Amino acid sequence: MKISVIGTGYVGLVQGVCFADTGNNVICMDIDKKKIRNLKRGSIPIYEPGLEELVKRNIKDGRLKFTAKLKEAVEKSKIIFLCLPTPQTEDGSADTTHVMEVSKKIAGFLNESKIIVSKSTVPVGTVEKIQGYFRQNGKHDVCVISNPEFLKEGTALQDSLKPDRIIIGTGDKNAAAVLAELYEPFVRTGNPVIVMDEKSAEMTKYAANSFLATKITFMNDLANLCEKVGADIESIRRGIGSDPRIGKSFLFAGIGYGGSCFPKDVKALVKTSAVHGHKLRILESVDRINEDQKKMIILKIKNHFKGELKGKAIAVWGVAFKPQTDDIREAPSAVIISSLLKEGAKVRVHDPAAMTNAKKVYGSKIKYSKSAYSALKGADALVVVTEWNEFRRLDLNSIKSLMKTPVIFDGRNIYDPDEVREAGFVYHGVGRKMQK
Ligand SMILES: NC(=O)c1ccc[n+]([C@@H]2O[C@H](COP(=O)([O-])OP(=O)(O)OC[C@H]3O[C@@H](n4cnc5c(N)ncnc54)[C@H](O)[C@@H]3O)[C@@H](O)[C@H]2O)c1
Repeated sequence: MKISVIGTGYVGLVQGVCFADTGNNVICMDIDKKKIRNLKRGSIPIYEPGLEELVKRNIKDGRLKFTAKLKEAVEKSKIIFLCLPTPQTEDGSADTTHVMEVSKKIAGFLNESKIIVSKSTVPVGTVEKIQGYFRQNGKHDVCVISNPEFLKEGTALQDSLKPDRIIIGTGDKNAAAVLAELYEPFVRTGNPVIVMDEKSAEMTKYAANSFLATKITFMNDLANLCEKVGADIESIRRGIGSDPRIGKSFLFAGIGYGGSCFPKDVKALVKTSAVHGHKLRILESVDRINEDQKKMIILKIKNHFKGELKGKAIAVWGVAFKPQTDDIREAPSAVIISSLLKEGAKVRVHDPAAMTNAKKVYGSKIKYSKSAYSALKGADALVVVTEWNEFRRLDLNSIKSLMKTPVIFDGRNIYDPDEVREAGFVYHGVGRKMQK
């Protein structure tokens, strides 16, 4: 099939290369000319395990091309995927400007009938709006479909090659069949292709992210109570997670969820709800609790140093919003680093993948360490913000000799408090049993 992908970011590039890898001819288009120039040479703008190799192979085999010209992408494809950003606006709603503007431009370039697929996360009714525009202004028949994306940064490639489910939101049986055929190589093990109406498909995406954000937040809130009553959230996680009705995933307490999706999608659904005269009280609380949770670790650090953070050297491990990605958008690290700086602390960070992005945001305000251990030299405390695998096993003796004072704030509960304390450290986790 001839496919174009408009917006070559995390979603567009990954999805584009997966379609190319299953034998389709794919053109990835982006407004960012530099990004396109680099991609043509096989240089990948994001860190995503396995992606570079797959992109290079498909470029070499001639199935994957890149362009900065929307007209070319539209004219040369039968199915057009919109993978454009839908950032949060000031009032919390999702900004659909990119999606609407590009759709209008596509209408001007139509050379035959097409299928347009929204992979962007858009508020309920957006696909209907785009369809209405094409009905009034398109020179050719266009079917607009909602096909929300569920990939997770860090495992984006395997999520796209083996998705848990494909959601196709359309009332058009022929268009649904075309899309189902396109996805067939990815669901050979039997994972479902679920066809539903456009609005339900749009809502399914928000429901999924909001539910997961709620699960995390429930555990974070409970963890804060655990600290007060002397219970341990890790024991509770294991205790409830083995119940299949609850499930084991998304039960890890920590310093709040971040990233480019959960925070904005929760806020956008709350906003959609308000616009329709409904109050989504659970999600309003989830959003509020999550904002507070990011600040909780700062309170612990301040308490530990009795409010005197000025001049303290704090090593921060992890800037990315989660492991296996270089994405720092809405990461809890932002709240932590800026609060530490505001208190006058000296911050040095290490992240295995997100240093380039961190430098773009923090410039010379903080120091960047080449390795996790070098960040600890003379440090008054270590704050673990992202649970990268390489942070999990510690050489406690080396760390102790490097640090000025052996204090660990474990924002992701990756260490055994007893082991760390026995080695002579002061340990603060999230919802872990306090030192007796
Ligand atoms: N990142 C994720 O994990 C993820 C997962 C599922 C769904 N989504 C959703 O998918 C959508 C895209 O997210 P993303 O993370 O890939 O965003 P991104 O910011 O990584 O990529 C978007 C790309 O679109 C390009 N772009 C912007 N305006 C353009 C225009 N007018 N014409 C052509 N290109 C343009 C940007 O240059 C950028 O490369 C969003 O709605 C997001 O909520 C993201």
